[in-house]
Amino acid sequence: CEKQDGRPSRQRLLVVANRLPVSAIRRGEDSWSLEMSAGGLVSALLGVKEFEARWIGWAGVNVPDEIGQKALTRALAEKRCIPVFLDEEIVHQYYNGYCNNILWPLFHYLGLPQEDRLATTRSFQSQFAAYKKANQMFADVVNEHYEEGDVVWCHDYHLMFLPKCLKDYDSKMKVGWFLHTPFPSSEIHRTLPSRSELLRAVLAADLVGFHTYDYARHFVSACTRILGLEGTPEGVEDQGRLTRVAAFPIGIDSDRFIRGLEDPQVQEHIKKMKERLAGRKVMLGVDRLDMIKGIPQKLLAFEKFLEENPTWRDKVVLLQIAVPTRTDVPEYQKLTSQVHEIVGRINGRFGTLTAVPIHHLDCSLDFHELCALYAVTDVALVTSLRDGMNLVSYEFVACQDAKRGVLILSEFAGAAQSLGAGAILVNPWNITEVANSIAQALNMDSEQREKRHKHNFLHVTAHTAQEWAETFVSELNDTVVAAQLRTRQ
Ligand code: G6P
Repeated sequence: CEKQDGRPSRQRLLVVANRLPVSAIRRGEDSWSLEMSAGGLVSALLGVKEFEARWIGWAGVNVPDEIGQKALTRALAEKRCIPVFLDEEIVHQYYNGYCNNILWPLFHYLGLPQEDRLATTRSFQSQFAAYKKANQMFADVVNEHYEEGDVVWCHDYHLMFLPKCLKDYDSKMKVGWFLHTPFPSSEIHRTLPSRSELLRAVLAADLVGFHTYDYARHFVSACTRILGLEGTPEGVEDQGRLTRVAAFPIGIDSDRFIRGLEDPQVQEHIKKMKERLAGRKVMLGVDRLDMIKGIPQKLLAFEKFLEENPTWRDKVVLLQIAVPTRTDVPEYQKLTSQVHEIVGRINGRFGTLTAVPIHHLDCSLDFHELCALYAVTDVALVTSLRDGMNLVSYEFVACQDAKRGVLILSEFAGAAQSLGAGAILVNPWNITEVANSIAQALNMDSEQREKRHKHNFLHVTAHTAQEWAETFVSELNDTVVAAQLRTRQ
């Protein structure tokens, strides 16, 4: 496409995600301070020069008054962000309820909520209604800002209804949907009361993307088995209309981490940490404090390792960073207490007057601290029970070119499909296996470490987030062109 002055203009990309990539803090009646968060998706899209990206999403705060909403909208516009305002009740029912208490555990194979089935069934209905309502609110905002030719890219399990709402507005809108979590086996998905409605809503998109081929295959199976539609090598077909389904494994902005290591602030952190941790091998876990991350199982495996390897007890330390998340959901509150209890027990059993085996922090770290931590680590432990991809494993590898540390990685993380040959793969439910892998990693010779690291480093630096975003959007453009050609024939 061209501007009137003849200069080529970039295609507009409307990125719609539940959460905007900013945190907003209210400073006064009509003033806000904003801080951009640097997640994978943000850096992916910042790096893509062909598109002019705008974000549409929830700012993560309740803003009931019009003055506050107008002021926040103005402030966000400078960051190319457009807010969707959700009130407290919708957030409770849609975000805490349907998204994080129903879809999130189900998609990670943890099942539907078990307790008080009747109450759950009743609240299920109202939560699903709120989910659809919230998705419609996102669609209304997209529609307000949409211009012909724009690409609309919807993200994640929060917005499975959005493709349908958008196509109801304009069937010609180019709509892609990408899932950042696993898509479970069709036998799991079929337990969901709203299984068919959700699948049909997603199928309204032109292109549906997943991190791995397995997730894409599960989705196609769900459509064939539950909806009785036809699965083809290209995707899913319904009465002559094809929804393209494919795998697009995400990556990270590896250069940002590699360059980060040169930063004087990072170097200073590295120096301090090396002094403090001298004489001990460093093991690291960095996770959101979420049940899918398998933090209790990881701690139990570390405890078993200490039990069985007394000579290592004062020579190794586990740094576990557990970033609090979704703290209003009761399951997450229970998990926090459980983790604290296990850490306390292990430190009580194996600590001495001068050192404890586990440093557990309930907080997030800034980018510089995180880079430094990755760089001083000998063994990273990523033992998710299920994980869409897991980019902590990628970030660790990017920061290890000097040290060549070992990655212990769950076979149930999407990353196992790309870093499997370089990592030690484990079943996180098998505590003995993980404990043995810790011993194997700590004792691994440098030749083995070098070989494994090289494999992973090549992958992480070659398959970046930027490439992921470019591939998805160009595939979406191609899919729409192919569909137009098909209808003309
Ligand atoms: C996962 C989801 C993301 C989500 C993130 C943080 O990675 O796939 O969509 O944004 O967790 O969770 P939160 O609920 O805090 O947005």
